[in-house]
Amino acid sequence: MKILMVCLGNICRSPLAEGVMQHLADEHDLDWKVDSAGTGSWHVGEGPDRRSVRTARNHGIDISKQVCRQFRLSDFERFDHIFVMDRYNLSDVQSMAPDEGLASKVRLLLGNREVPDPYYDDSQFEPVFELIEGGCKDIIKLLR
Ligand code: 4NP
Repeated sequence: MKILMVCLGNICRSPLAEGVMQHLADEHDLDWKVDSAGTGSWHVGEGPDRRSVRTARNHGIDISKQVCRQFRLSDFERFDHIFVMDRYNLSDVQSMAPDEGLASKVRLLLGNREVPDPYYDDSQFEPVFELIEGGCKDIIKLLR
């Protein structure tokens, strides 16, 4: 199964979601491939934000090798499930979907809640990690 995690910049939240989801899938011996992308293009080619790298490392997960990329149309076909962090990501990605079937692949990671953007607040990286980890554990239960 192929899963894509999407946020705005692809440097704070979705790299954490990629790292946590891949880590949990590997732990459960699931043949899942997890990737991430951003709706914006500002940080394309960069590594994740160092605060996300540090937070993931504190939980035993290395996300330092990830490289930021922008969401693209072909992602609708390449991935089975596309999880977004907030309602802006949801409308941005769904509005790009060529049809209803592909649009239905896109869901909020937390179901009906948002993962807030921690970019302007250092103190939010750990709480954001915990929200993401909870969402990823629910997805394992749902889709394994
Ligand atoms: P992310 O956070 O969407 O969780 O990666 C952001 C990172 C950078 C920007 C916005 C959000 N930015 O505007 O550069």
